[in-house]
Amino acid sequence: MPQTILITGGAGFIGAGLADALAAEGRDVLVYDALLRPGVEANLAWLKERHPARISAVTADVRDAARLVAAAAGATPACHRA
Ligand SMILES: NC(=O)c1ccc[n+]([C@@H]2O[C@H](COP(=O)([O-])OP(=O)(O)OC[C@H]3O[C@@H](n4cnc5c(N)ncnc54)[C@H](O)[C@@H]3O)[C@@H](O)[C@H]2O)c1
Repeated sequence: MPQTILITGGAGFIGAGLADALAAEGRDVLVYDALLRPGVEANLAWLKERHPARISAVTADVRDAARLVAAAAGATPACHRA
């Protein structure tokens, strides 16, 4: 069973493209993004629509250590784009 890949900034331009490619390969992807840049929520909606079984999301800031540590538990490798 493939492990979940954590992508911080996963709703952004680079992160969403990476998440889409990995999900298309059958990988589970956890998008960790504070949705700070206007419009990126549309990227996340697009990802969930394309890969409903593969994409999960946490809306939080990377500076929130507790949330980030919790999200990273069991998710590896990680890709940092935020
Ligand atoms: N249409 C286009 O060609 C296009 C569109 C967007 C960006 N770009 C280019 O892509 C490059 C940058 O892409 P990118 O993906 O690195 O940037 P991005 O802004 O698209 O993605 C960054 C993501 O990180 C998130 N984020 C920012 N701070 C955060 C924080 N503290 N905690 C959690 N999440 C946080 C944002 O909400 C965003 O979703 C630039 O060169 C830019 O010009 C091109």
